[in-house]
Amino acid sequence: MDSFLIEGGVPLKGTISVSGSKNAALPIIMAAIAVDGDVTYTNVPDLRDVKTTIKLLNILGRESAFENGAVTVKNGEMSIEAPYDLVKTMRASVLCLGPLLARKREAKVSLPGGCAIGARPVDQHLAALEKMGAKFDLEHGYIHGRCPEGLKGAHIRFDFPTVGGTENVLMAACLAEGETVLENVAREPEIVDLANFLNACGAQIEGQGSTVIRVQGVERLHGCEYSVMPDRIEAGTFLIAAGVTGGELLLKNCPIGDMSAVVDKLRSAGMVIEETDEGVLARCGENGLKAVKVNTRPHPGFPTDMQAQFMVLMCCAEGGSLMEENIFENRFMHVQELVRMGADIHVTGSSAMVSGGAKLMGAPVMASDLRAGAALVLAGLAAEGETRVQRIYHVDRGYEHLVEKLSAAGAKIRRIKEED
Ligand code: UD1
Repeated sequence: MDSFLIEGGVPLKGTISVSGSKNAALPIIMAAIAVDGDVTYTNVPDLRDVKTTIKLLNILGRESAFENGAVTVKNGEMSIEAPYDLVKTMRASVLCLGPLLARKREAKVSLPGGCAIGARPVDQHLAALEKMGAKFDLEHGYIHGRCPEGLKGAHIRFDFPTVGGTENVLMAACLAEGETVLENVAREPEIVDLANFLNACGAQIEGQGSTVIRVQGVERLHGCEYSVMPDRIEAGTFLIAAGVTGGELLLKNCPIGDMSAVVDKLRSAGMVIEETDEGVLARCGENGLKAVKVNTRPHPGFPTDMQAQFMVLMCCAEGGSLMEENIFENRFMHVQELVRMGADIHVTGSSAMVSGGAKLMGAPVMASDLRAGAALVLAGLAAEGETRVQRIYHVDRGYEHLVEKLSAAGAKIRRIKEED
């Protein structure tokens, strides 16, 4: 398995361009299932999860390809089964359920099962689709959904704002008969991007970005060309890279308008973040970094996908920081690895107390999930000496050309291939 070898302690300096958003690209490409026409996507990041999504579309019978940051999906007949071998490698595969039911009136999708950062069930997705007339059976590890009469518009209130649940049901509602009202939906910018894509294909969606979304079902969605939004989590990770290395980075294509919670916390922690004509400029303020309290919440709150990286910033700050994880259980697996690098962190239930100021030291460490892996890379960049981050296939799921981007800003990081 490949690993990253990092020689830490170099202040990063330079310009980094933010890639297209993984979490927007996956549902938006999956939404092609609901589209009766050819679709072209641009600004798509070159990531493993994107390739897996394309593979899934090809398995379903929609000829799809990735080339130079663009994905094309051709129109064509579709089958209904998302097999276990694929779904087990990417939980977001479950997002084909809604559009398949809407278009084919039947779907067989392997149950995603648990993953490293918690149980992550899909009960909210299924309950909402049932309200729209779908019936589900669990057969040999597969969710088998049927709606022979087609989906019907319904009034649905989610128990809590699930991102995937909102996306799955939104895609289904576009082709349902009549109006669907979705309450207590997730408000993440990636959901707004998905709704904008669907509207560009002829859907009638209103309210995306607020807590209530209204959808008037249409007969068919037509093809279009669509550019995926930039990745706010990748951008946030680079802002922190500037902070923990005491460097200065200029981020191009940084979606700062969607990053208020993170940017506010970074500023409170002592970073200077400036919007300029060239992009977003980030550096540590003159008084250094100081501890702040962080609670992860659904958007517009502080994103759980930035918790691990922000913890590294807090390791480098002065004072004690209380970090609470409210979205996923079991999302502190980076803590033990950071402690091995010299961090002082104590976890009690869903809270972590980070005592900042301890010098980080390079060490061999292991990524347990995507954002945990990103946090270990940040810690490696900040630490004295050499860090080897193993199991970086997790990091490859969400960061396009990470080594190249960081190296261009002066980082001493390289990928060690398995055979080396
Ligand atoms: C998406 C993001 C992920 C991010 C998360 C929260 C993608 C591909 N992934 O994941 O990076 O960390 O949003 O911002 O966009 N839950 C249930 N029942 C359900 C659905 C969810 O109990 O039917 C629970 C989950 O176990 C979890 C929480 O709700 O504890 C949040 O899940 P959700 O918002 O659905 O996240 P994902 O769509 O899986």
